Formats: sequence, C-alpha cells, structure tokens
Amino acid sequence: MLHFDDNLRLKLIAWFLQYPFYIVWFIIKFFLNKEKHPWDNIEAPQHPRILVITGASQGIGEGLVEYYCKHCPSCEIIVMISRSIEKLEKVKQRFNSVDQKKLLLYACDVTDANEMTRILLDVHQTYGQVDIIFANAGVSFRQQLLVNNYEKAVRETFNINITGVLNTVLPLIEIKGVKQIAIVSSQAAYAIFTSPIYGTTKQCVLSLGFDLRRRLAKDNIAVNVISPGPIATPMLSGSNIETAVKSMSTKEATKIIFNGLRRNEAEIVFPAFTGIFVYILSFLPICIAEPVAYYFLRK
Ligand SMILES: NC(=O)c1ccc[n+]([C@@H]2O[C@H](COP(=O)([O-])OP(=O)(O)OC[C@H]3O[C@@H](n4cnc5c(N)ncnc54)[C@H](OP(=O)(O)O)[C@@H]3O)[C@@H](O)[C@H]2O)c1
Repeated sequence: MLHFDDNLRLKLIAWFLQYPFYIVWFIIKFFLNKEKHPWDNIEAPQHPRILVITGASQGIGEGLVEYYCKHCPSCEIIVMISRSIEKLEKVKQRFNSVDQKKLLLYACDVTDANEMTRILLDVHQTYGQVDIIFANAGVSFRQQLLVNNYEKAVRETFNINITGVLNTVLPLIEIKGVKQIAIVSSQAAYAIFTSPIYGTTKQCVLSLGFDLRRRLAKDNIAVNVISPGPIATPMLSGSNIETAVKSMSTKEATKIIFNGLRRNEAEIVFPAFTGIFVYILSFLPICIAEPVAYYFLRK
C-alpha cells in the first residue's frame, strides 16, 4: 500500500538541495584528494588458512564452504556454525572428498553470546589466528512471520540479524584473533520501505561494518560488508517474493565475494543490476521511490 508522508514539501526541497554537495564531493574525491584512507590500504589475507562461517548449513554460507574448499588451496580449516547439526553434517558429507580440508561443525544459535564466544575463543586457542570470519547467518522477516506472531517475528529478526552478527564479530577483536571480518548485509538496506523490519536490521549491520572498518584499521584488521541482491537460496524461495529480476546462483555470488574480499573492497555489491536499482531508489524522494519499487517488485 502506498503512503505519502506529511513532510513531503520539506523532503523535496532537501532532495534538490543535496545535488551541489555531490558535485563538491566529486571534485574533492577525484581531483583534490587522491590519498587512500588507512583502512583501504590494509592487505587482506591472500592465502587464508582458517575460516569461520555462520549460517554454513545452506544457501550463501554453504556456497562459501564449497567455494573455499574447491578454489582456495591455502584453506585448511573451515569452522561451520548453524543451529542444525544434521544440515551441517550433510554439507560436510558433500565435501568429504575434497582433500586437506578440515571441516569443523558447531551447532550453535548465533544469538547465544556465551556459546559463540566460547566457540570462537576455543578455535583461536587451538588453531591460531582466524583469517576470515563470515557473519553470514540471517533470516528474512517474511519467513519469520510464516511461523511466528508479529512480536516474535520482529524480535527474532532483530536478534538473529543484529545481535547474532555482534556475537560473531566481537569476541575475537580485542585479542586481535582475526585478520578479516566479512559482514553479510543486503541491498534491502538501501530500500528499507520495501521490507521495513528486515531492511532496518541490514542497514544496522551495514553501518556497523563501516564503523568497524575505520576503527580496526589501526589493528590491521580488514572489515568488509557484503550486500547481496536476490540470490537463489532457501531464504529467497521461502520468502515468497516475486522478484522481477532473475536471482543469481550461489556459485556466482561466492566467486564475487571471494574476489572482493581479496581486494579488501569496503562493500561488495552484487548483482550489479539490482545494486544500481536500489542505489537509484535511495537517491529518490520516498514519494517517487516507493511506487517505483512496488511497480518493479510487483508487490
Ligand atoms: N538470498 C538472498 O537473496 C539474500 C539477499 C540479501 C542478503 N542475504 C543475506 O545473506 C545471508 C545468508 O542468506 P541465505 O539466503 O543463504 O539464507 P538461508 O538459505 O536461509 O540460510 C541461512 C543460514 O543461516 C543459519 N541460521 C539462521 N538463523 C540462525 C541462528 N539463529 N543461529 C545460527 N545460524 C542461523 C541457517 O542455518 P540453521 O537453520 O541450521 O540455523 C542457514 O544456514 C543472510 O544474512 C541474508 O540476510 C540473502
């Protein structure tokens, strides 16, 4: 349902006024100040040995396990975390044939701060500094609503998508136990009105990622945000979204993530087509962005 908000006049004025700032920013960025920030200069691990992946039992997380098993010879240990040990076992069986890889399975809910800390410290103590942590586990609000009432669905989505990410990325920071942190957000963060609850959680972890990227540069820790559009996973099919665009395969997605992390890109955005679409939406005033989004997403 469309709604036009009260402050439309002020928002339109603000919208027109923002353009001179873009021109100033463009001139500074490309002509006056070509120096890179310290956080853009960090060398990301080129030959990672130890990975931690939350949400590794299916979808993008499972795709990451597959990609690093098959295409990253330096990778020796992958710590796989999700709630279901049965699903993790199935993924492990698929890659048993890939030599030299140790797949460690942990059944844990990412919202359990104590257990997540215990696992991460244990891994660090036993195997040494972790090369990359993927804070990937997440849920869609639509899926949560299918099985919960509104209150529980909102609480679960916030807990898993925000607190779960904090529980994954924070425990090893203080002891410099990790070299690179990859936080999975979503392109929904740029068009919150299309999915207000889910989009808000993803905008929150996007901001967290950018903040950590700057703060942890002094410790030589690279932080990257991953912002996927529609990817063919159980989450997308379970969310019952009739997306107008074809979704990308996890195979393609994980290759893009792998390369983006090696280059230490601040934000890895894919597919490009939907990325451009949500960026355009985020520049438009809400009264235009909303109908455009609803038209294309066929809601
Ligand atoms: N697919 C897309 O189109 C898309 C687009 C943008 C962003 N993303 C983001 O990408 C990430 C992965 O999504 P996906 O599409 O691969 O989803 P998915 O297929 O539903 O997989 C989600 C994974 O997270 C795990 N998980 C969920 N809740 C958990 C919890 N409380 N504790 C531990 N593990 C939990 C699940 O395992 P268990 O059920 O065994 O716990 C599963 O392994 C999510 O953060 C999602 O928001 C996806």
